[in-house]
Amino acid sequence: MATEKIKAYDHSDLIVYTRSIGQPLGPYEKPVILPNKGNHNPTVHAWTDARFATDIMAEHALFFALLMPPEVAEKEHTEALRFHKVFTKLFKKIDDTPPPKDNDLGAFTKAVVDEIKPFIEYKKRLGDAQRNGTLRSLVWPLFFDHTQHEAERWTRRLDKLGKGNSKLQRSEVTTFWTNIMDEHARFVAHLLDPDEFELIDIAMKTSGVFSHLHKGSMGDIASAIIHEPGTVIESLVQNPETDAILSAAETILDFKTKAVRGIEAARIKSIIDPRLADHVRREALKFVDELKRSV
Ligand SMILES: [Fe+2]
Ligand SMILES: [Fe+2]
Repeated sequence: MATEKIKAYDHSDLIVYTRSIGQPLGPYEKPVILPNKGNHNPTVHAWTDARFATDIMAEHALFFALLMPPEVAEKEHTEALRFHKVFTKLFKKIDDTPPPKDNDLGAFTKAVVDEIKPFIEYKKRLGDAQRNGTLRSLVWPLFFDHTQHEAERWTRRLDKLGKGNSKLQRSEVTTFWTNIMDEHARFVAHLLDPDEFELIDIAMKTSGVFSHLHKGSMGDIASAIIHEPGTVIESLVQNPETDAILSAAETILDFKTKAVRGIEAARIKSIIDPRLADHVRREALKFVDELKRSV
């Protein structure tokens, strides 16, 4: 089914990314469809970003439902399932239709942003409740915040695309995604089996590198290199001319690809749902792609 799906997108404006070229999809793998390199058409970017973001929102809702069992949060669980249904339906609608025409671009992006806004409110409300103890679910406050920030970022991106602007600013891309990658690494560290000493250590060091990169000054980047040699910045030590952020982004993408395969094959012990592992892998892939397109 997935292979047929990929064929359906064999279109000159689009490129389909899988974990490995020519290999069958993993059991929990979803391909990522993005504009071809050098394509700046805002209608194509709006379609691929709306497709990507609505699937991500549907999965956030699913993860909330899984981590808020009815026994501890019945109302919130039901709301999560409703959001999951809304975004699954919207994703399918986008996935089944070609990119919008120029005339429909503003209406297309607005319709997606309008669906995301109530979900932002929900994430904010539940994040506050989990923080102050009125909600006792298995969702960390930082997971609510993280997914809220992602939703807010997609609304900003889609608003811009709706106005015909597909440009990705490097400073915006790096500020947003380095923080997201730092948080992903900490999520992974805290969802691994406590016996996975080595992977937990790598995950926490990776978080440290992205935290330094997020702060952004050359001093912080140098500090990341000094303090975490042999982790995600190995290539930087060997080649200081390398784009530090791109190198780190490609390395965390590689780490997440290996991790999701290990989780799927039960080689890695954790409570990480394989769908969550593939979700964070796709977000890393999007980071790498945006960084390469950014100016
Ligand atoms: Fe996400
Ligand atoms: Fe994320």
